[in-house]
Amino acid sequence: MHKTLLVAALMLHAVLFVKAQEITSPDKNLTLKFELKDNGVPTYQLSYKQRPVIKTSKLGLETKDVPSFLDGFTVTNTEQSTFDESWNPVWGEQKTIRNHYNELLVTLTQKSVQDRYIRIRFRLFNDGLGFRYEFPSQKNLNYFIIKEEHTQFALTGDHKAFWLPGDFDTEEYETVTSNLSEIRGKMKAAVTPNVSQTTFSPTGVQTPLMLKSKDGLYINIHEAALIDYSCMSLNLDDKNFILESFLTPDAIGDKGYMQAPTQSPWRTIIVSDKAADILASKTILNLNEPTKYKDVSWIKPIKYVGVWWEMITGKSTWAYTDLENVQLGITDYSKTKPNGKHGANTQHVKEYIDFAAKNGFDAVLVEGWNQGWEDWFGKTKDYVFDFVTPYPDFDVKELHRYAASKGVKIIMHHETSGSVRNYERHLDTAYKFMVENGYNAVKSGYVGQIIPRGEHHYGQWLVNHYLYDITKAAEYKIMVNAHEAVRPTGLSRTYPNLIGNEAARGTEYEAFGGNNPDHTTILPFTRLMGGPMDYTPGIFQTRVSAYNPENKSFVHTTLVHQLALYVTMYSPLQMAADLPETYNKFMDAFQFIKDVAVDWDETNILEAEPGDYITIARKAKNKEEWYIGSITDENPRIANITFEYLPKGKTYEATIYADGKDASYDKNPQSYAIRKIKVTSKTVLKQKVASGGGVAISVK
Ligand code: NOJ
Ligand code: CA
Repeated sequence: MHKTLLVAALMLHAVLFVKAQEITSPDKNLTLKFELKDNGVPTYQLSYKQRPVIKTSKLGLETKDVPSFLDGFTVTNTEQSTFDESWNPVWGEQKTIRNHYNELLVTLTQKSVQDRYIRIRFRLFNDGLGFRYEFPSQKNLNYFIIKEEHTQFALTGDHKAFWLPGDFDTEEYETVTSNLSEIRGKMKAAVTPNVSQTTFSPTGVQTPLMLKSKDGLYINIHEAALIDYSCMSLNLDDKNFILESFLTPDAIGDKGYMQAPTQSPWRTIIVSDKAADILASKTILNLNEPTKYKDVSWIKPIKYVGVWWEMITGKSTWAYTDLENVQLGITDYSKTKPNGKHGANTQHVKEYIDFAAKNGFDAVLVEGWNQGWEDWFGKTKDYVFDFVTPYPDFDVKELHRYAASKGVKIIMHHETSGSVRNYERHLDTAYKFMVENGYNAVKSGYVGQIIPRGEHHYGQWLVNHYLYDITKAAEYKIMVNAHEAVRPTGLSRTYPNLIGNEAARGTEYEAFGGNNPDHTTILPFTRLMGGPMDYTPGIFQTRVSAYNPENKSFVHTTLVHQLALYVTMYSPLQMAADLPETYNKFMDAFQFIKDVAVDWDETNILEAEPGDYITIARKAKNKEEWYIGSITDENPRIANITFEYLPKGKTYEATIYADGKDASYDKNPQSYAIRKIKVTSKTVLKQKVASGGGVAISVK
């Protein structure tokens, strides 16, 4: 071949080669570029509408026992493909979800390590990127131990961040809003005390991390399908604004035990110039596998009340006695003097069942029903609960009969006391006990340090426990709502009996000193990106001292804001957390909680700004009903509520639950006004929302 032609051909090949490693999203807004840098280091870049989102960022993993997956790579194959399919979740924010992406699969070979190879799979959706490491089965790769994953997210500047201190054992912090460069200075104050906590770096933060760039790009970083791997936090290089993965270690400092064929979870970057698009994103769910269950007919959204807030506020107790050191199995509770404040007694639970039945709730959660509570809190003991032995004043059989006669379920409560091995030992017996006594849902909890000691709530070992628990529950057709477990990563697509998680600072903190008024305007952009939260809204008695004079905490929202949360905080499991005696005094406002759906055909994010406000309209599943919720932070505002999603040409009646003229979260939280108006798809409503307030609307 002529020499110049040969050069031209080579150049063409090189160009093609580079091009082959660039893909765009189906709508062409996002571009992903994969490139090997000097010494064969894999990197990627992401841009949105020609604006850089992630600058050249390194990919790779450091291992403990075999050579690392960091450099020395050559690209030995690339494949591109497109996927476009719609699927229907068992429950969710919308009836149908479109899973549409362009994919790039890169095979990377390390010649110096006996031709060992890995793959990196990139999926580019219209609203974001997911990528993961894959370790195919091969002669020269079998077991390996992860020392650290070194996935970088190189940001373009000192973005505003909505962050929680990075911690291996708790997510129950207030979100701090600051520039990235301010994290180091604000870290110490952000680490508020918790019964289990392990921070790791002065610039370490948790995911989902919500960011906003100076030029108005909204960026969310998280992970999807966290299975058999440690939960990822992010460590910030605050000179260069590079975030890097930081995995949760186990008791001896290792970060993952792997055996090929295997893969990492997906690393996700959702991006848009509109905040509402972040909330509407289904990328994390789409990156999870379709459900593994053949029969899902037993999985149903739940609206519930519970013997709960009265303990949280200190009005009553979980424990039956006041004994400090009851030794389980030794103390005979039937001969022990009760403390007179035990919430979970048969008569009292029946009152809740009556209230649930009368007001159309599906279930009643009962905590503190089983023996052991005296012997637990603040102590670290292997064997506290057996999950089947009730206190003498809690009649399991009679309550089963009574609840069934009223068409109400009781929700089981398993406080594991963090003793995971003890829980696993009892799990089958505990689930059998549930089935025998008519329970089909369990709230579990992992308060305190994990036992075995040294393990962390978010390490691989615990991640595996939580999923074992969920799949084991499925064998018994039981739904799970796990508190203090790892933050969700969209696994409910695959395992839809995972109907709830806490994994953030819930309503309970309103009785432990309070949540900031902007708290619930941030959570949907952070914690809820991975899945629903059992936030337990609905507190109407905003002064906790009304229940317990010694508790001076107050709820940092108006009463109407509490109503709006049923729409803005999506969950298929919604609690009306306050006491029946209080709801009975506010029956007109309570009507909204009675009416509101917990499963949806459609969701419209009408307006949103993290830390400031959120307005969402949703259509109830299989019903001609819509529910709208709008919340604000401490700043009053006018909510702009449109109705274009209503069928054209039809007129509906809207019931508007609004803050009273003089309402505010700190001075007059219980002031509200209810009115009815006619609406059509053309109606535009400008509704005043108070400081810490909201508006809730039902449309029929
Ligand atoms: C913490 C949970 O979040 C809370 O809801 C529960 O009541 C307590 N643990 C007791 O287990
Ligand atoms: Ca908790």
